[in-house]
Amino acid sequence: MTERIDVVELLKAQHTRIRELLDEVAASKGDERRQSFQDLVRLLAVHETAEEEVVHPFARKNIDGGELVVKDRVEEEEKAKRALSRLDGMDPDSPEFLDRFAALRQDVPAHADSEERYEFAHFREAADRGKLENLARAVKAAEALAPTRPHPGTDTALKNVAVGPVAAVVDRTRDVVRKAMG
Ligand SMILES: [Fe+2]
Ligand SMILES: [Fe+2]
Repeated sequence: MTERIDVVELLKAQHTRIRELLDEVAASKGDERRQSFQDLVRLLAVHETAEEEVVHPFARKNIDGGELVVKDRVEEEEKAKRALSRLDGMDPDSPEFLDRFAALRQDVPAHADSEERYEFAHFREAADRGKLENLARAVKAAEALAPTRPHPGTDTALKNVAVGPVAAVVDRTRDVVRKAMG
């Protein structure tokens, strides 16, 4: 039987991986940076979309002041998605990419910290474990779209698979999450 993870644990684990990928992009160059950035685009687009579809609606309804907390987070997410779209397709070693990426690398972890502190911190008093596991299941369905690391030996094949525009990843994630939510 697979281990049952609740949505707070799952989202925090995704935040950790997102922070790692931001660091990897910053620390690499050329093809390696391009690959790390593609991993980041995919995971971040899937993560933020799953939050918008599943997590924020739950927070709006179930935590004190949820509407306000979520409003700020959604604005941050819209900004991050616009920044990702702009970066996607740029030469990752160009000064313009590095400038814009530096801003993203500050904003995205700050956004994740705010979610953990003002939003997710209230989930366990707002719902029982079973409910939080159900939310995790829907987020996981979306995560399946976002392999964060190529499997050994499949690098060449993966290089030929474009991440696709951020908007396409977002649309596809929405479909999957809505199906998972029934
Ligand atoms: Fe978010
Ligand atoms: Fe998040």
